[in-house]
Amino acid sequence: MSIKRETVLVALGLLAFAPSSFAQQSSKEFGNELLRQRCASCHAIGPSDRSRHPRAPEFRNIVKRYSPDTLAEALAEGIMTGHPDMPIVTFEPHEIGPIIEYLEQLSKEHR
Ligand code: HEC
Repeated sequence: MSIKRETVLVALGLLAFAPSSFAQQSSKEFGNELLRQRCASCHAIGPSDRSRHPRAPEFRNIVKRYSPDTLAEALAEGIMTGHPDMPIVTFEPHEIGPIIEYLEQLSKEHR
């Protein structure tokens, strides 16, 4: 039954290939999307937009003060609670990687 064996090999090949190519293509966009949904109501998250909340610093300036790794850790643990206006937010472990990637790109663009 060689056909059956080939079918199995093709299926395995797709399984091995699909998740990594998905991650590479859309990870940063996913990180951007997460921040847009949960933070952009107050913070500017892009390279040149303005924060909607007058006292919320732009993320491009936040990443100058904190490394993306530090920020991501804080996000995962939900310790971004320094002030009354800002909600306590925690991200899922699978959401942190894409956010780091997005923030790293942002900090590279704004050294
Ligand atoms: C409801 C509005 C609001 C939302 C939503 C919000 N923030 Fe903030 N954030 C603020 C304000 C206002 C400040 C500035 C507080 C101050 O220093 O008075 C701030 C400050 C910060 C700081 C700087 C803290 C420091 O020590 O300098 C970080 C980092 C931050 N926010 C991250 C986030 C992240 C990540 C999200 C999304 C998960 C988020 N914020 C969502 C309002 C918000």
